Amino acid sequence: MNKIVCVVGARPNFMKIAPVMTALRGSAYLQPYLVHTGQHYDQEMNHRFFQQLGIPQPDVDLEVGSASHAVQTAEIMRRFEPVLDRERPRAVLVVGDVNSTIACALVAVKKGIPVIHVEAGLRSHDRSMPEEINRVMTDQISDLLFTTETSAGENLKREGIDERRIAFVGNVMIDTLKRQLIRAVPLEATLGANTASGLFSSGYALLTLHRPSNVDDPEVLARLLKTIRKISDRLPVIFPIHPRTAKQIQAEKLRVYLDSPRIVSLQPLSYLQMLGLMTKARVVLTDSGGIQEETTALGVPCITLRETTERPITVTEGTNTVVGNDPSRIKGALSNVLETGGKTGRIPEKWDGRAAERIVAIIERWFADESIKQDGHLIGRKRHSC
Ligand code: UD1
Repeated sequence: MNKIVCVVGARPNFMKIAPVMTALRGSAYLQPYLVHTGQHYDQEMNHRFFQQLGIPQPDVDLEVGSASHAVQTAEIMRRFEPVLDRERPRAVLVVGDVNSTIACALVAVKKGIPVIHVEAGLRSHDRSMPEEINRVMTDQISDLLFTTETSAGENLKREGIDERRIAFVGNVMIDTLKRQLIRAVPLEATLGANTASGLFSSGYALLTLHRPSNVDDPEVLARLLKTIRKISDRLPVIFPIHPRTAKQIQAEKLRVYLDSPRIVSLQPLSYLQMLGLMTKARVVLTDSGGIQEETTALGVPCITLRETTERPITVTEGTNTVVGNDPSRIKGALSNVLETGGKTGRIPEKWDGRAAERIVAIIERWFADESIKQDGHLIGRKRHSC
């Protein structure tokens, strides 16, 4: 059996790893070993996702917790190295773009262990985003790069990555969405019957905010919350609040903007609650990456509160409109949705629920291909694409 160490750390990793673990466990040749770095640790940010998505208990939890970027990344690296020494895997598989992704990829490559990156090649071209640095660095040291959209492959080739290492397989996040849609928690169960049957029954906007560029500067966050308050006059708002944002709202005494019967603030939600709210939303306002993709898959209009997106297919083919955090642009985009119903979009190529299956088939072929070069890098003799 070929052991593959799979890494998760933060909330958006969980929906990506779930279908990959299922597909790996179904393989006769591959044996997954799951490492949780502990970057996210709260019940709401962590444990509930494992339960709902049927992710097996991690084989090891590094319990790093929160810290500055440098300390968190260094601590993950320090604690991950002995795992590789002990388990001696054939490869390390990382997903997405969080600090855990780059930290574990870096440890593996320095030990000559091939790195597999799921969701490679996405680029916002904004290097002030910590995730953009994580993406660029992880891709440069990965041996096998799985992409969700064709623009990602183009980005990688432009950065000099050998195209034989790249495979366009589709989107594992959408694998999870398709599998779990039937179990989505209804609105009433999340909001309570009274709220759900009142104001919110005739439509609502769903809001998420957690990017440092939107929440770390109190002035920017206050301006955004003021805009949301204005928007709520036209459409009630449901706002599950990320811990990073909650801390800032409390520290800067900004709760006053949310104090309205037309705004419901909630703790971070489980995956199935969030899915239930997204499915029925008139519009989603967000700065998340994954939600831009999920709304495209669901056909729900999305207004992205960032200047850029690393997921351009959600704009060109999906339901996404990128507006930044300027109040007049946000209000303009909302008016457009209310007046026209917003973008309907179409489902991007290979977002069909089978990405993880393709990934595992390709990894099996790579291992069987006798193509592991002496330098430890995987280069298949033929181009791998599905
Ligand atoms: C991280 C990812 C980001 C991802 C997001 C999803 C990086 C650089 N960022 O950002 O890409 O979109 O996760 O949530 O990896 N906290 C808690 N409980 C937790 C986790 C965090 O209270 O379980 C609080 C802590 O105060 C912490 C803050 O949230 O300092 C930020 O957490 P951190 O993991 O550093 O970054 P996120 O903003 O969550």
